[in-house]
Amino acid sequence: MIVLTVCNHKGGTGKTTTAIHIAAALGLSGHRVLVIDLDPQGFLTRVMGVPEPPEEASVLALFNPSVSLREVRRQSVGGFDLLPSSTAMTRVMRQLHRPTDVLWAKEALEQSGLDYDVVIFDTAAAITVYSLNALVASQHVLVPVTPEYQPVLGAEQTAQTIQLVRKKLNPTLFPPLFLFTQVDARKRAHQLYRRYLRRRYGDRVLDTVIRTSAALARSFEDGSTVFTRDPHTRGARDYANATDELMQRIRQDQKAGVEQTPWSIPAPSLQEIRS
Ligand SMILES: Nc1ncnc2c1ncn2[C@@H]1O[C@H](COP(=O)(O)OP(=O)(O)O)[C@@H](O)[C@H]1O
Ligand SMILES: [Mg+2]
Repeated sequence: MIVLTVCNHKGGTGKTTTAIHIAAALGLSGHRVLVIDLDPQGFLTRVMGVPEPPEEASVLALFNPSVSLREVRRQSVGGFDLLPSSTAMTRVMRQLHRPTDVLWAKEALEQSGLDYDVVIFDTAAAITVYSLNALVASQHVLVPVTPEYQPVLGAEQTAQTIQLVRKKLNPTLFPPLFLFTQVDARKRAHQLYRRYLRRRYGDRVLDTVIRTSAALARSFEDGSTVFTRDPHTRGARDYANATDELMQRIRQDQKAGVEQTPWSIPAPSLQEIRS
């Protein structure tokens, strides 16, 4: 089972759009996929048209030892299963302050005996006990990054968090893979930040980029994705290609092993390239 977290400490970088469309693309190619919406704002749950669930039928089931994930009814949407977010996550977070509270998701997944090909966590743009739970439960991380200053800074901070999680909590975590999103090839700044990230992280940056796409920006909140709505748009093509490349990279990583995978390459700092 491949467990993947989609995360970037900066908001609006296409995390939720990426989680949905990678899950949908994998679903279309016959993979059994579970998406876990660990963002208390629940944008993913909402755009998939899933109404607010009772607490015990939401992601909060992961944090409740008396509920087995296996018995929680997962919503079937857009070619994948979804464990929806809950507005009660913000309240529950206040009770999750013990060091071991970062282990809930990992243990719940392991103990569930669920047999998905791929599990994808969508996370909020912050380091919380929820995003740490996702990173502790995962082997792989995808960082969607719009090639602009703040998202790139967020991506670098995210890479540091991931390194720390690997050191302290989860030695099976691979260095992150980066995916450029909302790319506009005409923008000079986009070209600059794309070059920068590639110099710094080498082939950890996927070759495929997600271009800006009106079809992706439209949100229907009815559980449809671009694959069913606008399958011939570039949004659909880009995410289909990104998904293929991502799966290839993940398989390569698994073959090489965690120890063999480089974190970053010496490169000029972000401050330097801006001046
Ligand atoms: N490739 C894209 N082209 C155009 N709009 C996009 C694209 N990707 C995401 N968006 C839009 O940008 C906004 C932020 O995306 P979202 O996936 O919610 O980011 P995050 O989860 O990182 O906050 C949303 O309104 C979304 O529809
Ligand atoms: Mg989001």
